[in-house]
Amino acid sequence: MSVGERDPHTGHQTTGHEWNGIKELNTPVPKPVWFFLFTLGLFGIVWTTLMPSWPSATGYFKGLLGVDQRQAVRQSIEEAAAQRAAWMSRIGEESLSQIQADNNLMRVVREDGRTLFGDNCAACHGMNGRGNKGYPNIVQAPMMWGDDPETVLHTISVGINGTDPETRTSQMLAFGRDGMLTPEQISLLAGFVKSLSDPAAIAGESEDDIAKGKELFAANCVACHGEDAKGLAETGAPNLTDGYWTYGGSRSDIYRTIFNGRQGHMPSWSARLTPAQIKILTLYLLDLRKQAAGAPEVVAGGQS
Ligand code: HEC
Ligand code: HEC
Repeated sequence: MSVGERDPHTGHQTTGHEWNGIKELNTPVPKPVWFFLFTLGLFGIVWTTLMPSWPSATGYFKGLLGVDQRQAVRQSIEEAAAQRAAWMSRIGEESLSQIQADNNLMRVVREDGRTLFGDNCAACHGMNGRGNKGYPNIVQAPMMWGDDPETVLHTISVGINGTDPETRTSQMLAFGRDGMLTPEQISLLAGFVKSLSDPAAIAGESEDDIAKGKELFAANCVACHGEDAKGLAETGAPNLTDGYWTYGGSRSDIYRTIFNGRQGHMPSWSARLTPAQIKILTLYLLDLRKQAAGAPEVVAGGQS
């Protein structure tokens, strides 16, 4: 075996090493590999010259192109803030219906509204606005005070039994505690009121009792809740026939409401939020209602 011997099959020289009759060929490194290594090396040199790269005792080599990611980030934050300020001033200036018709502004409303709602409203009305016991479902239930945008905005601004001089006021009288009706009369009323939204409940009452309840209702309740019990916006007395309950819809919940009365408290937001924020919340809430109207109905508010 000698160095420089040629392999008859491939024409390559051998290295001179041989194991059990197998000889090692002296094959050169393939050209593509050299090419790849060279290109990579060149790229490395060029890139680290152009871009910020090598660390030094006092900082780092800034690169010939002067690229600075930190500055780019700062700039894009400034741009976003300027854009936001522009959107906010438009939301402040434009009317509710103009904003509703503008998809870009509504996108801001949905983003900001979600946060504002979470921070200010969810504690009482729930994150999805569908209510908790004692706090109405404001996404699905019919709005007691009216659901056109200006009215909703006013309700949110002044509150209900709130501190604003113009606050809406609502009070359900304590018919039992204040001795206006006897417990028997209140029980008859509870049975009648329950039957208004739940016809199956009539099965548990005698026809006679329902008739007596109806009479008591006509004498004591229609002034605020209306002849048809569907509520009156002027008094803030809710619809008792729609199956949505703020204070619970079981017979005993209704009994307790009539016995002790109710006076819900909804803060006056004019004192705590800016006019633009109240606008955003109004539009966000109406948007949730529109979406919910398309979705299958879930009666969640106040169910015990
Ligand atoms: C402290 C609890 C509480 C908070 C916080 C609260 N609400 Fe209310 N809200 C209520 C109560 C209670 C009612 C029902 C009052 C009544 O009928 O007497 C109500 C009623 C409403 C109504 C009227 C619904 C109708 O039927 O007309 C709207 C609209 C409303 N809230 C929106 C909001 C928005 C928006 C926020 C956040 C900015 C908010 N609420 C925060 C307790 C709250
Ligand atoms: C002075 C006006 C007034 C009169 C009279 C009145 N209500 Fe009410 N009622 C209200 C108001 C306002 C509310 C809403 C209170 C709230 O949400 O804070 C209410 C709430 C209720 C609720 C609770 C509804 C719910 O969503 O949980 C029931 C039940 C009810 N009233 C039944 C009656 C019955 C029965 C009578 C007659 C005995 C009656 N009310 C008389 C004003 C009145």
